[in-house]
Amino acid sequence: MPIIVTEFVGKLLFENYENNYCYAVYNCGGSIGNTDHDFAKLLNSKGCNIDTPFSVFMPDNYILMMDLLTPADEIPPLLFRTDQRLITINETIAQRGPSPLKLHKKGFPKLSSAIMHPYYLKHRSVKPFHATDACTGCGICVKVCPYQTIRLENRKPVWHGECTQCLACLHHCPEKALQYGKKTTKRGRYLNPNCNLIQKHNGS
Ligand SMILES: Cc1cc2nc3c(=O)[nH]c(=O)nc-3n(C[C@H](O)[C@H](O)[C@H](O)COP(=O)(O)O)c2cc1C
Ligand code: SF4
Ligand code: SF4
Repeated sequence: MPIIVTEFVGKLLFENYENNYCYAVYNCGGSIGNTDHDFAKLLNSKGCNIDTPFSVFMPDNYILMMDLLTPADEIPPLLFRTDQRLITINETIAQRGPSPLKLHKKGFPKLSSAIMHPYYLKHRSVKPFHATDACTGCGICVKVCPYQTIRLENRKPVWHGECTQCLACLHHCPEKALQYGKKTTKRGRYLNPNCNLIQKHNGS
């Protein structure tokens, strides 16, 4: 579970939610691990119970560990299948029903979350982020950061503060100038064609 989600839920106040239908949709590039249980526990501590969990499969864009896991030619059919799944999810929610869909879980979900989550929490340093000489100072990375962690100084981005490792800054840089240490230099970049914040910033 991204830290920004944990923090957000921590700030929520639920009143009189006991009898409301509540659902959650988890996206993943491979497996949601134990996130359904962890998130349900977190919400439960705030007085809200999840009736129906859903999951959707998206192109894997977490390039800090390895290169993009979803080859380019597999992305359009994957997005199409996810859109189809979303139709079923929407219909289920409209009927306040239980989900007819299986959650995306692989291997040993509880164990993988128990290992990966503490690792993720410890390795969110912003120090390896840097912009190469290809940076034009456009400021897109500044605008897309959900933590407002990036500032332009002398027309170059600098990182101060929290990072949820969403990698929005890295994937949105139109010059591919933004890197995390050396390992992302040769790795691919991916933006969802329906959710491109660069287009939003350009007003189109
Ligand atoms: C903080 C964080 C945690 C992630 N954990 C998982 C995970 O447990 N399993 C997985 O398959 N993908 C994981 N991913 C990868 C993304 O869920 C996956 O790439 C997804 O396609 C991202 O979609 P979006 O950025 O378009 O919302 C994680 C990504 C981030 C940023
Ligand atoms: S990965 Fe980039 S955009 Fe995302 S929180 Fe960290 S600095 Fe901000
Ligand atoms: S998005 Fe890329 S080119 Fe624009 S300021 Fe950030 S690093 Fe530089």
